[in-house]
Amino acid sequence: MIYTLIMAGGVGSRFWPKSRESFPKQFIDIMGTGKSFLQMTYERSLAFSTPENILVLTNVNYKQLVSEQLPALAEENIITEPSRNNTAPCIAYAAYKLFAKDREAVMVVVPSDHLILKENVFAEKIGMAVAFLQDHEALITLGIQPTRPDTGYGYIHFEAGSAGVKKVKSFREKPDAAIAQQYINSGEYLWNAGIFIWKAKDVIQALERYAPQLSGLFSQGSELYNTPQEAAFIEVYYPQSQKISVDYAIMEKADNVYTIPADIGWSDVGTWASLWNVTGKDAHNNAVVGGEQVLLTNTEGTIVSAHSGTTVVVDGLKDFIVVNEKDALLIYPIHKEQEIKEVLKSLDKSK
Ligand code: GDD
Ligand code: MG
Repeated sequence: MIYTLIMAGGVGSRFWPKSRESFPKQFIDIMGTGKSFLQMTYERSLAFSTPENILVLTNVNYKQLVSEQLPALAEENIITEPSRNNTAPCIAYAAYKLFAKDREAVMVVVPSDHLILKENVFAEKIGMAVAFLQDHEALITLGIQPTRPDTGYGYIHFEAGSAGVKKVKSFREKPDAAIAQQYINSGEYLWNAGIFIWKAKDVIQALERYAPQLSGLFSQGSELYNTPQEAAFIEVYYPQSQKISVDYAIMEKADNVYTIPADIGWSDVGTWASLWNVTGKDAHNNAVVGGEQVLLTNTEGTIVSAHSGTTVVVDGLKDFIVVNEKDALLIYPIHKEQEIKEVLKSLDKSK
């Protein structure tokens, strides 16, 4: 059986003031389309998963938000974590839980906060990965053609020549800028999209080898998963798990990693500038999302995000971010946007 696991427990603080710790990026309709990233992710997953096999992994604090946004999702399909421990523990938990009921379970692990414009191609690549798993013990990740030396991504060094599914020589999570630049120059690297396809039993084997703290912990619940005792076990054990992302815990270390280059119109949309990149713009390169009326004069290269029902008037800005929320206003130069995360630390309004 194929299960889609939507990871929806992250915080996404660079989208302040639209995102808050209590209302992170995956729950926001950031594009102004009427659907949040989570809702778009769920709908996209229906192309290769039945609704009963779609599971959302999230922090217990977001359970309510998930069920409000995905009313079709059964309550037992929301897997909650009592603490924020990054992606390796939530994947380990899900792998052991699925393996307990289905020894051959295939997991399609997807982030909840990305944009994928070519959904048909995406579904096709997932199908290709699932087919490959029939006769390979592989950990597969979708690879994206990189466009800049971004230090926020994982980099995949793949074996040239092999068609379709490519063997990965090495995986490097979030390299520094100089190394990222070398990777880009070599032309031999792809970005990790953060979308993983593998069998539960194979990722469990990788955890046993490379993250024994996690396998040791979650294997203790093998008899309890999918029983009334599961919740009490997780409540006590989950918070003890090592706080580490799956990229560092497994992908950098395993020797059975494969990648499928995927031209799927992918964007991480992690910051206001990346949103500006993927949205439509006026003749002066301004992008406007939301708002009732937004009037821009003598303004260029600016992104304006306005709360529904609000009116925004701007004159004379170049390359700025303007975000007008009900209780907060941000006006910030685009080229300094990485600093927003830092500024927030001194504010109460980030919650
Ligand atoms: N359930 C759960 N629990 N989900 C989580 C948790 C957690 O503790 N932490 C993060 N997530 C979710 C986020 O909401 C997001 O959808 C996804 O897992 C990835 O987490 P990020 O925190 O956004 O990771 P990243 O962006 O730093 O890096 C990953 O994604 C890049 C592509 O966007 C890595 O996989 C990189 O290698 C990759 O290039
Ligand atoms: Mg991310």
